[in-house]
Amino acid sequence: PGLLPLSGKHVLVTSGPTHEPLDPVRYIANRSSGKQGHAIAAALAALGARVTLVSGPVTLADPAGVAVRPVETAREMLAACEAALPADAAVFAAAVADWRPAEVAGQKMKKPADDAAPPMALVPNPDILATLSRHPMRPGLVIGFAAETERVVEHARAKLARKGCDWIVANDVSGDVMGGAENSVHLVTSYSVEDWPRLPKAEVAARLADRIAETLHA
Ligand code: C5P
Repeated sequence: PGLLPLSGKHVLVTSGPTHEPLDPVRYIANRSSGKQGHAIAAALAALGARVTLVSGPVTLADPAGVAVRPVETAREMLAACEAALPADAAVFAAAVADWRPAEVAGQKMKKPADDAAPPMALVPNPDILATLSRHPMRPGLVIGFAAETERVVEHARAKLARKGCDWIVANDVSGDVMGGAENSVHLVTSYSVEDWPRLPKAEVAARLADRIAETLHA
């Protein structure tokens, strides 16, 4: 009585983009509002979970009742996720930059006199989802996202295997969901696919939180 479905559970959520500095004023980043990740954190908290939200730079308010760990880069995001373990479940909704500049200049880079662009070498960032999926303290349920424009479910299945996670929320971004209020997703596991209708991001979050609660109790 009075006990919520996720009471006593700790869930880790990543959200937003990462910013990878090139110099003190420039960075490379993915496009991400953080709306879906923040909505998921809020929905999990509403079901009683203790939620740690590791978020890149966003303009959104911190969701109520959620412990927010602000980070900037992918490496900071990975460290904050590892520091948050153990967790019963983890949802990786962040749009992490795949690469970062190999060197970060201490001063603002000057435009070359000949009007040429300066060379920019990139190095790969850690894959946070893949790292946590194979971590000694792996959360019991690991959920990744996949933004796809075609053959959404097929690509999601491949990603599931490659990353070692349990579920992929496959996001059909062939429409206009980027930064928008709605999302069109498929919940893909190694043995099933659920096609969800196009829903407000808060509804996608609530459904996902419900599915997580069912699974942690099964
Ligand atoms: O490989 P891709 O970027 O398409 O995978 C998307 C999923 O992997 C998302 O869940 C995203 O949060 C996660 N990811 C990550 N760390 C990365 C790249 C992606 O956690 N460096």
